[in-house]
Amino acid sequence: MTGDGGARGRTLWHGRFAGGPSEELMAFTVSLPFDRVLAADDIAGSRAHVRGLVRGGLLDGDEAAAVLGALDTAEHELASGSFAFAPSDEDIHTAVERRVTELAGPAGAKLHTGRSRNDQVATDLRLWTKRALAEVADRVVSLQGALLARAEAAGGAYLPGYTHLQQAQPVLLAHHLLAHGWALARDVDRLLAARARGDVSPLGAGALAGSSLPLDPEGTAADLGFAAVFDNSLDAVSDRDFVAEALFVLALCGIHLSRLGEEWVIWSSEEVGFVTLDDAYATGSSMLPQKKNPDIAELARGKTGRLVGNLTALLVTLKGLPLAYNRDLQEDKEPLFDSVEQVSLGLAAVEGMVRTATFDLERMAATADTPAAAATDLAEWLVARGTPFRDAHAVVGDLVRRSLAGEGALADLVAADERLGAEAAALIAPGVPVTRRTTRGGGGPVAVAAQLDRFRTHLAADVARLPDGG
Ligand code: ARG
Repeated sequence: MTGDGGARGRTLWHGRFAGGPSEELMAFTVSLPFDRVLAADDIAGSRAHVRGLVRGGLLDGDEAAAVLGALDTAEHELASGSFAFAPSDEDIHTAVERRVTELAGPAGAKLHTGRSRNDQVATDLRLWTKRALAEVADRVVSLQGALLARAEAAGGAYLPGYTHLQQAQPVLLAHHLLAHGWALARDVDRLLAARARGDVSPLGAGALAGSSLPLDPEGTAADLGFAAVFDNSLDAVSDRDFVAEALFVLALCGIHLSRLGEEWVIWSSEEVGFVTLDDAYATGSSMLPQKKNPDIAELARGKTGRLVGNLTALLVTLKGLPLAYNRDLQEDKEPLFDSVEQVSLGLAAVEGMVRTATFDLERMAATADTPAAAATDLAEWLVARGTPFRDAHAVVGDLVRRSLAGEGALADLVAADERLGAEAAALIAPGVPVTRRTTRGGGGPVAVAAQLDRFRTHLAADVARLPDGG
């Protein structure tokens, strides 16, 4: 089963080896099937490296022109799908270098001067991650825009607010929608912060220790648009913190989608009926003709398992790895690519679901308009008139208990109570309780109007700081 290097093409290390790689080795270790997505970044990194070699006098103008021309051709072939991969192409870096050498002749063989795939792959993946995190942030902001639009249109509509999934106090629908919006605002912040921390060039670290040749790490970093340059070559080639951070930020963003999804599964149930999904954002049943299912909301919930799994997988891979590069690090890519893709798809689908759904505002209000919804307001009405809160709580609790025991409607018991009376009983009227909470960040109309302003300002500022083009 020992491979024949000649038949399968030359490896990058053919000089040291008498024979070629076995089929089993290639099958188990290749990364080309998934690292092809790094092609554009690999080529960008190679261009910057070539220009650095020119500055260091390691490549003359003609050689650089030949290699850059070959990189252009390879880029075009990769983009158009005409790039012919060889069986010996174990990863995208090998494939590009092989093609450049075919095209540029002897000059192509100088491309890898002073460079290792270890600093190369770290460079590629940082470039890819920078762009991906910016694109995900774009989508998060777009979903926030959808929530804001629905919140603005919701006006004074209100629904029960819950704790323990038990009705607690009514809140404006706008307030509820913006609660998700603020969680997403933190995601944007984390995405951009993770992106900024990962914005460091590892190019020039070589295999692990730098080079005896006159490389230009600062120059190549600037060329590639990195904000900073590595300080330690061992760290540069073994650091995957930026992938772990990205996976955490994506997992948490996915968890926010999951929580919204869980809620919309409940809201769209017949029993609750707060929302009806647009046909384009719901599915039917293959057997039950009457069904309309909230599959987007369910998968927003369901995909979270793999997002958490992807983060866990990388953390476990990194744990205990000695410095510097180890092939284990190749396992960084599939979790990252998967989490970026799944969160991106989920954000777009949830946005469509949110933008097109129909809220049943009457049902929300009717569900919120229970006498008990005003219980805390009644206690606070007593507090405003000097009763200690614990006593007021007991007074109202006693009336709620008596009402539930059949002694009469809560409003009647309140009106008849000498400590409360008709003025307090008026707080129980439909639509009144939600107006009572006026403090900053609270769920009533006055507070929510101010919150909407702050949300608009925050969102506009985030939109303004989104990096363009990655
Ligand atoms: N496919 C490899 C990876 O993703 C590229 C780096 C290979 N480096 C090496 N020394 N074998 O990590």
